Amino acid sequence: MAPLLSDAMNVIRKYAPNFYPKMGIILGSGLSSLAEQLVDPITIPYQAIPGLTTGGVAGHASLMVLGHLNGIPVVCLKGRIHLYEGVPYDPVRMLIRIVKQLGAHTLIVTGAAGSLREDVGPGELMMINDHINFHPGNPLAGPNDESVGPRFVGMENAYDVALSETMTKVAERLNIPLPAGVYFSVLGPSFETPAEIRAYRILGADAIGMSVVPEVIIARHCGLHVVGVAAITNLAAGMSSEKITHDGTLHFGELAARKLVKLIPAFIKEVGPELVT
Ligand code: HPA
Repeated sequence: MAPLLSDAMNVIRKYAPNFYPKMGIILGSGLSSLAEQLVDPITIPYQAIPGLTTGGVAGHASLMVLGHLNGIPVVCLKGRIHLYEGVPYDPVRMLIRIVKQLGAHTLIVTGAAGSLREDVGPGELMMINDHINFHPGNPLAGPNDESVGPRFVGMENAYDVALSETMTKVAERLNIPLPAGVYFSVLGPSFETPAEIRAYRILGADAIGMSVVPEVIIARHCGLHVVGVAAITNLAAGMSSEKITHDGTLHFGELAARKLVKLIPAFIKEVGPELVT
């Protein structure tokens, strides 16, 4: 039988019996340095948690790290499960629902993305204010567990307006440019053709990536509030003479990560004390 959320929680509670994070943070490719800022970290490899499959992509370490950031208890998901690895949605659902089950109120989602906007280049950040799900499926398709969330979930407020405003305010204070835009999710793992990018721009894309959206749908279903920031690693296909490579995304991910490593702790300091779980 497939592992249940309670099986996963039993293992996590052995590692961290009395830890109740207020926020979860998903760290994408090249962004994992944030987890190193956690105070008194408890690290659990995904492998030890029933129902989580270990990702095998360079830059993804696959560790759950629980600890304090600016005094606020958080859980960092260091290394995400990508659907292009050929895994089903089950481990992605498990990962996000663990964050909720641990007691978190908010999920901060970060992810590497290509920019479809000339004015937002590699190494910059983009606030995600909405998304377009261009994955071939939906992570909530299949039987619904009413104890987790409703069958039909509204997605009008997928990205929490108040939290996003706070993130923008904090970025301004830190002098980090944070333009907002629509994240367009594709399955990957191939990058896009220039023709696809031209088509997606017409559809409304500002940034494009291979993650974020399934996690956000799962998070909203179980009642987590979401705030999302894309780390721009490249201009999308056809927009520059630079070839798009995974190594390139890691390099510019590092540049963007330096900004995120300042922005996220400051954001958590701002909102953390007020969060009701
Ligand atoms: N396309 C899709 N996913 C990505 C890109 C891109 O250009 N850059 C980083 N992740």
